[in-house]
Amino acid sequence: MFDLFGDIEVKPILKWVGGKRELIPDIREYYKNLKPNKYIEPFFGGGSVYFDILKTFGVELKETSIINDVNTDLIEMYKNIKSSPNEIIKYCKELEKDYYKYDYYHIRDRFNGIDRDKNQVERYEGVVRSSSLILLNRTCFNGLYRVNSKGLFNVPKGNYKNPRIVDEENLHKLSSLLPKIENIRNTQFDNIEEIEKGDLVYFDPPYHPLNETSSFTSYSGSFGRKEQIRLRDYFKKLNDKGVNVILSNSSSPFIKEIYNEFNVVEVYCSRNINSKSNKRGKIPEFLVIGDEILNQ
Ligand SMILES: C[S@@+](CC[C@H](N)C(=O)[O-])C[C@H]1O[C@@H](n2cnc3c(N)ncnc32)[C@H](O)[C@@H]1O
Repeated sequence: MFDLFGDIEVKPILKWVGGKRELIPDIREYYKNLKPNKYIEPFFGGGSVYFDILKTFGVELKETSIINDVNTDLIEMYKNIKSSPNEIIKYCKELEKDYYKYDYYHIRDRFNGIDRDKNQVERYEGVVRSSSLILLNRTCFNGLYRVNSKGLFNVPKGNYKNPRIVDEENLHKLSSLLPKIENIRNTQFDNIEEIEKGDLVYFDPPYHPLNETSSFTSYSGSFGRKEQIRLRDYFKKLNDKGVNVILSNSSSPFIKEIYNEFNVVEVYCSRNINSKSNKRGKIPEFLVIGDEILNQ
């Protein structure tokens, strides 16, 4: 079979906050000996674990994999990369010309459908919208994705001299490795009905803050304590059903407490440490390992 991975790794298309690239070797230890029927990733983001899963188990697993994220623009982008990679490349190149002809804010305004003087402008839709998301992510400050209360993307321009917008070979590779369109979902993490015993599910939710200040306690953000508990209940439900479940989160006391009936291991992100033998004073992250994986 043609080896899609070859010598070159598929690179994530976006910089995404919370990217798991550096933790992959630690997470892989827990799934490498499994024989999963399906793979499901309910908080997909930049999706680095998914690509390692295909590398570990073979690209055939993409036929039954399901990826999901609540971010509609992100999921529309993956669907368009799957169905129309050539169009995405074409529009990325056109938008790149506009970026140099006008500037970053010209593209951002059209992505938002409103300019900075609050005038309505024509909003990018469809494949052009997805291509502009790629361009904005590659040129904005720190590759952040942040929207204001009106849902407008408000990240300022980043400081790049020659940002690379699209890597054609990588985009085609990504397109062929993504699951089929109907398995690229845009819903809540606990709304994927097909999960069964023998499947592997990796959860990478927004992390609970390490230092919960009093202002946070009253914060009713989109993924607060209530959602973390809802996720724990869902994790438990799948675990009890015989699903292979793994979850990552911050090493906060709250997370330790709500997963106290599970095996919680500490892992150290390499960006936090100089070498594996030097863990003192470093802050770990948690991996919660479900019973099926522990008992394999
Ligand atoms: C920590 S990031 C995932 C990072 C990813 N594993 C990577 O390597 O890039 C968390 C993701 O969860 C998504 N998210 C937040 N709330 C969600 C919800 N209720 N249901 C599904 N996805 C959600 C966010 O849009 C974000 O992409």
